[in-house]
Amino acid sequence: DDRDETPSVPGDLIVVSNRQPYSHEYDEDGNVVVDEPAGGLTAGLDPVMQRVHGTWIAWGDGEADREVTGEDDVVRMPPEEEAYDLKRIWLSDDEVEAYYYGYSNRVLWPLSHGGIWKTEYANRHWRRYQQVNGRFADAVVDAIGEDSVVWFQDYHFALAPRMVREDAPDALLTHFWHITWPGWDTFRACPQAEDLLDGLLANDVLGFHVERYCQNFLDCVDQAFEDAFVDYDDNRVQYEGHTTYVQAFPLGVDADGIAESASSADEESWRAFKQDRGIPEDSKVALGVDRLDYTKGIVERLKALEQFWKGRPERQGELTYVQKADESRSLIPEYQNLQTNVREAVERINERFGTDEWTPVIYIDDWLESDELNALYRYSDVMLVSALRDGMNLVAKEYVASQVDDDGVLILSDQTGAYEQLGEHSLVVNPHDTEGFARTIEEAMTMDAEERRERMSALRENVHEEDLNAWMADVFAAAEEAGEERDDADGQ
Ligand code: F6P
Repeated sequence: DDRDETPSVPGDLIVVSNRQPYSHEYDEDGNVVVDEPAGGLTAGLDPVMQRVHGTWIAWGDGEADREVTGEDDVVRMPPEEEAYDLKRIWLSDDEVEAYYYGYSNRVLWPLSHGGIWKTEYANRHWRRYQQVNGRFADAVVDAIGEDSVVWFQDYHFALAPRMVREDAPDALLTHFWHITWPGWDTFRACPQAEDLLDGLLANDVLGFHVERYCQNFLDCVDQAFEDAFVDYDDNRVQYEGHTTYVQAFPLGVDADGIAESASSADEESWRAFKQDRGIPEDSKVALGVDRLDYTKGIVERLKALEQFWKGRPERQGELTYVQKADESRSLIPEYQNLQTNVREAVERINERFGTDEWTPVIYIDDWLESDELNALYRYSDVMLVSALRDGMNLVAKEYVASQVDDDGVLILSDQTGAYEQLGEHSLVVNPHDTEGFARTIEEAMTMDAEERRERMSALRENVHEEDLNAWMADVFAAAEEAGEERDDADGQ
């Protein structure tokens, strides 16, 4: 199956992302150390970049980065192979505040997830967002050659494609939007709606996780621009003499790599983990792993667990919930509130049901050794994914890929992109339906081994089939096709 191979790229690849693949830090002795990509897309793209010797443009952060990078702002990465150029864009504190925390994460993030009440329409963020997009676009224009394929990642760069297009009209531009795209009724609340759409329509290919987000985007374009021709069947927009293909590419995980890591965990380390954390040996374990974000539905999940234990006293002690939480975007008040709300919910539940022998919720917000994390993913009996809205949700896929024994149960919110692919074989919940959610946890607790195996093996097949490499291959194939269509049209 050639979809398992590292995908081929139709040109010289230039990747643009907010986060960099490698960051440099100082250790305790003041020596520079390299932080390797932890996982996900960055770790998956890195080998592709090493193979094709491309250029990766990203936000450079901190003193050690500066020291290593030198004056031309470029460092060859990874250190030993020196395979590709990492071009670092240095941002001032003001730029970070307005472009990253401000417009990206206090406007576009909540807006894209449908939360217009959490969205702050501060026009002062806008100017910096434009400026920083301009700085990234300049770096792209500097790096671009005749055979370049530019690949923008995410909502940090809605304007950069238009800016690049102005200087490099023939460039092949691809963009993947990693979060949901809302309906027009939500998107129209944004004062910069038209500028954002205009920026994105400079791309040749614009990708979203699922078809619904594509249709939402097409509808937004249709409503915003009278002179745009929107083809809903072929997922195409013609606007200002340019065609943009809008396509669904459901992001996958490195399923083989994850399965291998999970297989390295053993029952011994799992028993040790349970003992260390005070989980009774015969208690089942439900797991949640989240960045501490208000879109993840963590408080709603805790309410469902509370309801579950309240309505089923016999289950107290029989199911323990482990919450692994990663702090995120903590300078933003909404995230601080969420952190407080989660902590309070955990404390309330543990006070209400906890005994000398049993703590219902084990909350882990510090570093976990990889063997502990592997054991958690492999041996937890149930995974709870309850996002209120989520572009994809890769935690669900990581759990599935880790289920090498085919005996866990995935409970999955119907508000995630992952639901489109995994909904059929998971137990599906609406995270706001606390009572239904609690019943679903009971269903997972009592599901027999055969049904668990049937469901999980179907899920695993999907996650291996539609993995990260397959996803990249599909994106690159679409870029190649768009380039060919354009060449054909030019030739006519
Ligand atoms: O889901 C969108 C996303 O940007 C991911 O690509 C990333 O892993 C996550 O959010 C983390 O966000 P941040 O870079 O703001 O810490």
